[in-house]
Amino acid sequence: IKKQSPIPIAMYGGRHAVTMLPGGGIGPELMEYVREVFKYAGAPVDFEVIDIDPRSEESDAFDYAITSIKRNGVGIKGNIETKSESAAITSRNVALRNELDLFVNILHCKSFPGVPARQKDIDIVIIRQNTEGEYAMLEHESVDGVVESMKIVTESNSDRVARYAFEFAKRTGRKKITTIHKANIMKLSDGLFLETSKKIAKEYPEIEHNDMIIDNCCMQLVSKPHQFDVMIMTNLYGSIVSNVLCGLIGGAGILSGKNYGDHYAIFEPGTRNTGTAIAGKNIANPLAMLNASVDMLNHLGHKEHADLIMNAMLKTVSEDHLLTPDLGGSASSTEIVQKIIDHILQADIRPW
Ligand code: NAI
Repeated sequence: IKKQSPIPIAMYGGRHAVTMLPGGGIGPELMEYVREVFKYAGAPVDFEVIDIDPRSEESDAFDYAITSIKRNGVGIKGNIETKSESAAITSRNVALRNELDLFVNILHCKSFPGVPARQKDIDIVIIRQNTEGEYAMLEHESVDGVVESMKIVTESNSDRVARYAFEFAKRTGRKKITTIHKANIMKLSDGLFLETSKKIAKEYPEIEHNDMIIDNCCMQLVSKPHQFDVMIMTNLYGSIVSNVLCGLIGGAGILSGKNYGDHYAIFEPGTRNTGTAIAGKNIANPLAMLNASVDMLNHLGHKEHADLIMNAMLKTVSEDHLLTPDLGGSASSTEIVQKIIDHILQADIRPW
């Protein structure tokens, strides 16, 4: 198997250039926090910031963002709002993932110490097909009042997502993979996804493989989530199950998600919300985007800086008990970020 998303070569002085797409809603303020924390942590990263206009498909900024990520190899992003109701304007987020062939999305749903949650000690990895399925954006009105929406499942993409999952499990010591599907109803599309994962599973006898229907999966997740280890699924199920799991461990403000292809990687908050209603109020939880920035630092090989920021976040939440309102606390976003910076400045081990 090819190595996924090769690490870009650092510039002179060991610094990396990274494309930053703040997006809409709370994206810009969360990116400011990332930049502030990176400054105090001395993280060797220079950001190329690009604002994409979500209302236009003919956006120079979108093309520039693609060129920039192709040049830098790595990006960090907030959600770009799809504002138009017009079917002609398609999601810039989906277009970006398709253009860069970021075929897999990884959400590591791990309980965050100190965060009040419905379920404790969760440690599940969702591996989601990221470029086709229900997100094919192929809809049309065949006759008046009848709309058809195509769900595209290809053997090649099902194959590489399943391979990615089994290689991931092998590399990280995970024991079991569950394919989530609705092959009892969508016999051809989900059937192909399921059969492909079963075929790949035979090449990895040391890893247990089973499958579960998406409906049952949602019920099992809220009642008995500890039975799951790694899960693979098509695009829309991935989004729904990711949101269920984020809800179980504390909501949209905590987890990060990683998008990988053979050449590029993009890091972002796990649920991909815009949080427009809470923008500019200094209450958005900064953890999800900071977690995404830690993922990005680890991907680039800046492990010490990643650990420094992660430890500061853990101390802020589990020792100082500072939480934003989404987690039942009363701290503002900037109070949390300031505390994280204080911990970074007080750290015994500095990476520089
Ligand atoms: P939303 O942006 O309204 O967020 C859902 C809830 O999570 C809200 O209560 C929001 O305040 C809260 N939230 C999100 N991030 C937070 C943070 N950092 N700190 C504290 N609270 C936070 O989500 P909605 O309505 O699902 O989507 C809004 C936009 O996002 C739409 O344009 C949608 O297309 C896009 N989007 C949403 C995805 C999802 O998985 N929910 C996936 C992809 C796009």
